[in-house]
Amino acid sequence: MLILTCATKLQLLERVLQKSLPQTLPVCGAVMHINRGNPAQHEVVVDSWRKFKAVLTRPRTEVVKDSGDYYANVHAAFSWDIDACQSLLENPEAIDWGRAFQLQGLQEELYNVSKSIAEARCVELKPNFYQVILSPDPSTCCPSQFKSDLFHFGTLNSSHAVLINETWSLGGNDRSLRYLNDLICKFPSACLLDKEGQLASWTLSNPLACLTHSYTLPQYRGHHCYAVVALTAARKLHAKGFPAYGAILPDNKAAKQGLMKYEGAHALPFTKYTLFFTPGCESPPNWRK
Ligand SMILES: CC(C)(COP(=O)(O)OP(=O)(O)OC[C@H]1O[C@@H](n2cnc3c(N)ncnc32)[C@H](O)[C@@H]1OP(=O)(O)O)[C@@H](O)C(=O)NCCC(=O)NCCS
Repeated sequence: MLILTCATKLQLLERVLQKSLPQTLPVCGAVMHINRGNPAQHEVVVDSWRKFKAVLTRPRTEVVKDSGDYYANVHAAFSWDIDACQSLLENPEAIDWGRAFQLQGLQEELYNVSKSIAEARCVELKPNFYQVILSPDPSTCCPSQFKSDLFHFGTLNSSHAVLINETWSLGGNDRSLRYLNDLICKFPSACLLDKEGQLASWTLSNPLACLTHSYTLPQYRGHHCYAVVALTAARKLHAKGFPAYGAILPDNKAAKQGLMKYEGAHALPFTKYTLFFTPGCESPPNWRK
């Protein structure tokens, strides 16, 4: 395996991954961020060069200091070959299984391979399965039926992180607060404020260029805020050349209904695997059941 540091090689890798979209989401999004200023300080690992068969993105070693922090320690992977995938994931220089981390990808084999490695190493796995939503060109679509007199656009900043953390079903702890604050400061997002200037609805994006953490406060639901914030954040990413995609839990009816007001967005026939690994076969700390 090797860590790709050469800008020309990283550009070439991006073009190869783009040719295999949408299957290469979210690795492609991570590589694109790396090639555009690298706000999360991630790096790319490949099994070999030039004929690579497996690609992994991860934070640089010095970035995540807390070995129990699987929020910030976000990895993404894609492979054209299951054996290459297995070798890369098993390689201790590619993944440190002694630290908490998350792994994202759209391939079932990625899930199966990482699950068996985790079992063999007594690493706790908490898997989450999402439906992938893609918006091919958010610049051309518009959300319908939005009551714009009740809300106005704002800009997320660090002071909003506490509320966003409190309302996130997988958050609510100090690590998730730190992670969300990082997303707010480093990646495109969108929000609507109410008449008093308080946060009403928001969408963030992450180091994998995935639209995420969408939320509308209960008192403002049903006003179609979700489609507006998701579309606005999607447009920001799309304007920088990123594929605009997100993921929802398959049984999240409100999210599905909300996205129907966002014309042009459609579900892809792929599952996004978001896999949380914690060493020692213990449940992740503060995990909300
Ligand atoms: C999913 C969510 C973001 C939708 O936000 P929203 O701004 O209310 O979106 P919409 O106004 O388009 O409403 C979407 C659907 O929610 C449901 N809804 C409407 N009013 C509601 C209310 N007062 N309370 C709860 N749900 C309501 C309806 O099914 C509605 O669809 P409909 O208008 O076609 O009937 C919001 O429900 C939420 O924050 N849920 C918790 C977090 C979450 O699931 N996030 C999405 C992760 S991808």
